[in-house]
Amino acid sequence: MSKEIKSIGVLTSGGDAPGMNAAIRAVVRAANYYNLRVFGIYEGYQGLIENRILELNARSVKNILNRGGTVLKSSRSEEFKTKEGRKKAYQHLVDRGIDALVLIGGNGTFTGGMYFSQEFDIPVMGLPGTIDNDLAGTDFTIGYDTACNVVIDCVDKIRDTAESHNRLFFVEVMGRDSGFIALRTGLASGALDVVLPEEDQPMEDLYQELEKGANNNKMNRIIIVSEGNKLGDTWTVAQKVRERYPQWDSKITILGHLQRGGSPSCLDRVLASQLGVAAVEALREGRQGEMIGMVNHKLLFTPFDKAIESKSKIDMELNRILKILST
Ligand code: F6P
Repeated sequence: MSKEIKSIGVLTSGGDAPGMNAAIRAVVRAANYYNLRVFGIYEGYQGLIENRILELNARSVKNILNRGGTVLKSSRSEEFKTKEGRKKAYQHLVDRGIDALVLIGGNGTFTGGMYFSQEFDIPVMGLPGTIDNDLAGTDFTIGYDTACNVVIDCVDKIRDTAESHNRLFFVEVMGRDSGFIALRTGLASGALDVVLPEEDQPMEDLYQELEKGANNNKMNRIIIVSEGNKLGDTWTVAQKVRERYPQWDSKITILGHLQRGGSPSCLDRVLASQLGVAAVEALREGRQGEMIGMVNHKLLFTPFDKAIESKSKIDMELNRILKILST
């Protein structure tokens, strides 16, 4: 039988994502509801190694549900990748009497969490918090919906000027190794084509789509380029197109970290709230070493090693639909 949990630590790690604060609030308030002590670990795993830990209560998380970023701050810790670093981190948990951990982050966070929970006697639960949506075991990660809404808002604005000048725009979106943001926002913003890391798409395919658009008198063309695509960075892709079609006026917009900021959408707030409560309840029930996601509106527990294998999840059917509709 697993040890009774009396005290929980919560941290955010990796790239921040809108809705992380809603998840922190849910963990803190659910812990409070079940009369557990709860500690905020500041600056992710690095903060745990450096003992930046403060006890929180229900009032510590007031007015954060609607705020982007993470009040606990975040980091990408190199030291936590070492056994020595993880040992220091564990010792701080023992010293504070923290019995269990909730990790909010993406695949780097869960890789670290997996090693940590295997090496030390500490139950760990993960909440998917990343704009990239590149985790298996959840339809949406916390932050993905908000990031997509930011992108379509920006592309709608770009479309106004593209239309006025008959210009071709290459819009680069985030997704280190994954095209979830590119594919979804490409469809939602009426892009002519998307360039994704998941595809071995030759430049010829892109040329074909561009010519098809031009032949249909479509002059305000938008191409969404995912940062991790295989054709090269957005400047290289745009340069190749310029060399081939010097008659077309083209511009590049890199949306960058704009996509990680802003107030979380309703979907992200609700998802974060549901998953945060579920994490505390799961730990109390003795679960550990899993990420909690939502699939078809139902909670799903996925072991960390399976959650970080995401590639199969991208829905290429959306790409087929995009191509039918972009004519
Ligand atoms: O993992 C989220 C993400 O925003 C990726 O889409 C992007 O490639 C990366 O983080 C950027 O990380 P950083 O802000 O550390 O440069």
